[in-house]
Amino acid sequence: MQIQEYVSLRPFNTFGIDVQARRFARFTSGENLLEILDENFGTPLFLGGGSNILFTQRVDGIVLKNEVAGISLIGSDENHYFVKAGGGEKWHRLVMFCVENNYAGVENMALIPGSVGASPMQNIGAYGVEIKDVFYELEALHLGERRIQKFSNSDCRFGYRESIFKSTYKNQFVILSVTYKLSKKAVLNTAYGAIKAELEKMKVVEPSIRNIAEAVIKIRESKLPDPKKLGNAGSFFKNPEVETETFNSLQVQFPGIIGYSLPGNKVKLAAGWLIEQCGWKGFRDGDAGCHANQALVLVNFGNAKGKDILLLSEKIIDSVKKKFGVHLQREVNVY
Ligand code: EPU
Repeated sequence: MQIQEYVSLRPFNTFGIDVQARRFARFTSGENLLEILDENFGTPLFLGGGSNILFTQRVDGIVLKNEVAGISLIGSDENHYFVKAGGGEKWHRLVMFCVENNYAGVENMALIPGSVGASPMQNIGAYGVEIKDVFYELEALHLGERRIQKFSNSDCRFGYRESIFKSTYKNQFVILSVTYKLSKKAVLNTAYGAIKAELEKMKVVEPSIRNIAEAVIKIRESKLPDPKKLGNAGSFFKNPEVETETFNSLQVQFPGIIGYSLPGNKVKLAAGWLIEQCGWKGFRDGDAGCHANQALVLVNFGNAKGKDILLLSEKIIDSVKKKFGVHLQREVNVY
C-alpha cells in the first residue's frame, strides 16, 4: 500500500481540472481497500475513471482510485454468457472483450469513457441501450460496516442515469466487481438513426456486433471530444423530462423542438437542442466552453478551473429556464 501526498488530480479526471489531493492511493482489491481505510485518513473520495466528476476545489482528505482489475467469463447458460469484471477496469475494454468473443449486448455502449465500477452507479447508456439491460449482479464493499454485499439488477433500482448508489446509498458502497449477462444470440439495436446511417456508409447489410461497435465508435468520435485532447465529462446535463402537455405547448412555440415519448405521458427533451437554441454551442469564455459539435458537452480548453465550468453550466441552466421554462439538471457530479 502506497499513500502519496499532495498529488495533482489532473491525470485522474477527464475534465483535466488541476486540483490537489492531500493524500492519494490506489486499491486493487477489497482487502487492499480495507487496509487503507484502517489508516483512518478521514472520509475518502473514490475515483474510477474520473469521467463523471467536476472538481471545483482541492481535496483535503484522501482520494482512493479503484484499480480492481480482471475481466473473465465465469459461466454460461443456454442463452447467456456471464462476464465478471473488476470495478477498476476500463468500461471500453470490457466492451471490446465482449465484442471480440461475440458476447452480445454492450456493443452500442462502445467508447463510453469511465470504469466498470461506475457503469451501474449511473446506469450509463448510449444509442438505445443502458447497463440495466445487461447487468446481472455486483459486489460492493459497505464502507461503514466493512462487509461485502451483492446487489441484483432490481436491488440497484436503475433509472435514467440513476441507481441506488446515487440516491439512498450515496457514498456508502464501493463497487468492487460487476457481472454482466450477455446474449449468445445477438438482438441488435439499430433503431437509432445515426447508427443506421453509419452502417449504410460502411456498406454493411447484415451487421455483426463488431459492425455496431465500429459504427458507434465512429459516431462518438465525430460528435464527442476525446478527453485526452479536450477535457470533458460527456453529457454535462441530463435530457429533461416534461409532461406531454408541456411538450405540446412548447412545440407550438418552437416547432423544431426534439422530444422522445416516454411511458407515463412524459416526453424526454433533447437538452443539446435546447442549449444550442440559446446560442451556447461553440461558446468559449477563457478555457471553459460548450462543445461545437454537441452542446450538451462542456469542455476545458486547457487551464479552466472547475469553478469556470460550473459558472458556465449555471448560465446555461438559467438561459434554458428563461427561454423554455425547462430546468436542466447536471449529470456530472460536482465536488
Ligand atoms: N442536438 C442538437 N444540438 C446539439 C446536440 C444535440 O440539436 O448540440 C440534437 C441532435 O441533433 C439529436 C438530439 O439532440 O436530434 C439528441 O442528440 P444525441 O443523439 O447526440 O444524443 P443526446 O441526447 O444529446 C444522449 C446521451 C449520451 C449518449 C447519446 C447517444 C444523455 C444525457 N446523453 O445524448 O450519453 O451518448 O444520447 O445515445 O442522455 C453521456 O451520458 O455522457 C453521454 C454522452
